[in-house]
Amino acid sequence: MALEDWGIKPVVPISDEQFALWQGLIESRTGMTFTQTRRPFLEISLSTRMREITIEDYDAYYQFVVSGARGEREWVLLVDRLAVQETSFFRHASSYALVETHLKSLLAKPQMSSINLWSAGCSTGEEPYSLALLVEDLLETMQRQDVFYGITATDISLPTLAKAKLGVYNERKLHGVPEKMREHFFTQLVNQRDWQIDAHLKARVAFAQLNLMELDKAPFGDMDVIFCQNVLIYFRRFRKRDVVSHLAARLQVGGILVLGVGEVMDWQHPLLERVDYPDTLAYRRIK
Ligand SMILES: C[S@@+](CC[C@H](N)C(=O)[O-])C[C@H]1O[C@@H](n2cnc3c(N)ncnc32)[C@H](O)[C@@H]1O
Repeated sequence: MALEDWGIKPVVPISDEQFALWQGLIESRTGMTFTQTRRPFLEISLSTRMREITIEDYDAYYQFVVSGARGEREWVLLVDRLAVQETSFFRHASSYALVETHLKSLLAKPQMSSINLWSAGCSTGEEPYSLALLVEDLLETMQRQDVFYGITATDISLPTLAKAKLGVYNERKLHGVPEKMREHFFTQLVNQRDWQIDAHLKARVAFAQLNLMELDKAPFGDMDVIFCQNVLIYFRRFRKRDVVSHLAARLQVGGILVLGVGEVMDWQHPLLERVDYPDTLAYRRIK
């Protein structure tokens, strides 16, 4: 029996020209590349959305997206569909171990009064909240509650940021959070399934929309830690370098930039030196 007989419409095939047009638009606006391998994902994402708003043709949808205020609103939704939001608490433990070591050395200095961290490409919030949990725990164990800390958390996708701001996660998502931290910093909701991060911790995290392709407009600087993992995977090499150079300029001298292992290759920057820490890709600003 054909798909149509079940009431299921097959995906409309995207032509090579249409694919190139969409590829170009998405890459120039977000940095995300859609190679031939990811073509089926693009095709399914676009055609699912087109079906929802009863547009049948890729060219017509393209025209809709690139024109006027309605197109801009549509773009916000589409970006959310096209971006990979996969994330988890304390993802890639060695990166967090490195941040912990770095923060311990900062907090050992009695004159240290504030710490600033930035999660760039924060998805649904697990990453910036993990950083907050780490700092809270350290301040407590090192008895440095006199130190102020703030976490800036940015992402291109507004719907994703809205979820992050809620700070509500189910049992499965809290898997990577140590039991002690869960008890200390989360409250179980009445539905018994979800947990909410405590308000005082949430208040330390400032969420904002920011496209990494527009970092020159970002009003952030003097960061002690910048965390940017699993965001640049789909960026072309020259764009990755551009983004990480911009991020490097937002560090304090002594601050560290933590990237995903293998995400940036053969890259050097005059302000930075590579941090020698197992199973990580990180750089320290030296001047
Ligand atoms: C796979 S998630 C990674 C989340 C988190 N950093 C982690 O490692 O678990 C990638 C995130 O990058 C965001 N992203 C993709 N392109 C972006 C861009 N140009 N500017 C800012 N964020 C972007 C996506 O919306 C998504 O939330």
